[in-house]
Amino acid sequence: HDTHIHFLNMNSVQALAESPNLIHIPSIYTYSLNSNEPPALDLQDAIPTIDFTSLTSADPGLRSRAIRELDIACKDWGFFRVVNHGVPESLMKMVIEKSNEFFDLRDEEKKVYEEKGLLDPIRYGTSFNSKKDDIFYWRDFLKVIVHPEFHCPNNPLGFRDVLLEYSKRTREVVKGLVKGISLSLGLDQSYVDETLQLESGLQIFVVNLYPPCPQPELAMGMPPHSDHGLLTLLINNGVGGLQIKHKGEWLNVRNDLPNSFLVNTADQLEIFSNGRYKSVEHRAIVNNALTRLSVVVANGPSLDAVVEPACKLVNGEICPPKYIPMKYMEYLEMQQGNKIVGKTCLDRVRV
Ligand code: SIN
Ligand code: FE2
Repeated sequence: HDTHIHFLNMNSVQALAESPNLIHIPSIYTYSLNSNEPPALDLQDAIPTIDFTSLTSADPGLRSRAIRELDIACKDWGFFRVVNHGVPESLMKMVIEKSNEFFDLRDEEKKVYEEKGLLDPIRYGTSFNSKKDDIFYWRDFLKVIVHPEFHCPNNPLGFRDVLLEYSKRTREVVKGLVKGISLSLGLDQSYVDETLQLESGLQIFVVNLYPPCPQPELAMGMPPHSDHGLLTLLINNGVGGLQIKHKGEWLNVRNDLPNSFLVNTADQLEIFSNGRYKSVEHRAIVNNALTRLSVVVANGPSLDAVVEPACKLVNGEICPPKYIPMKYMEYLEMQQGNKIVGKTCLDRVRV
């Protein structure tokens, strides 16, 4: 339990990275990559792109084509870009700007939000899951629950309006994607929405700050993991670092498409779809030149929803359920309360 106290008093990576003459990273930040891991690949063009306007179009031909593309994107990748999503570019820029300004606040102001409980509405912290990590990650974060109840730090000035609008607009995008996913799974378009009670779905806004690291090859920004919810929407400040695991290999995801969202499928969707749409494993690496900032909106079911394979997707012995039912809230607690490596949390609900 000594380590636990130590974690709570941890300094930010931001402060560490600013310390003068930092040449070597403290050993607690040393992450050992699997030594025979091949270098990550660049296969940018292969990553599927979903046109949101087509997906929500009144033209049945256009729409069904987009739904087929969405099915392939979820089934073969668990990761895709979304374009023509309707969220104003100016709003996306403001979100990045205000998120940056949050980290520029004085330490005393940020420390008010230091993480205590799993569902504290506003949490400022560092590393990945600092109660469980045995090494530290080169990342500071701000996590804000923005739905079903909206929260926001008092500063920076103007953050509240921007965040409220961003939360609403991204929820609209998620609604459209979820309708498409419902259809692509062969269900009624409102089936996922209603079964998982998305009206009161949990939405968490997360900002990740990855300061420049003097020994980037020895550190890791965020370890391999999958997200606990349904769908995650990502944007960033144009600095690369995100990698996804695709067919067993790590791929770099660059930021070459302006005004688009990167979307990844998460654990509750894997469970709900009975394994048709596997959650994608991803991680963030760091670099020695530029601060990377990613802004993540994690969208999940209602905390009270019991998530299990959709009954229409299971069929007796031909296609038995692959996951046991579990309340989303319990899944979340399980994920946060255990040391998770990659997708090991899902193993705990596998039949
Ligand atoms: C995350 O998995 O939340 C981090 C993604 C990123 O930094 O791009
Ligand atoms: Fe993630």
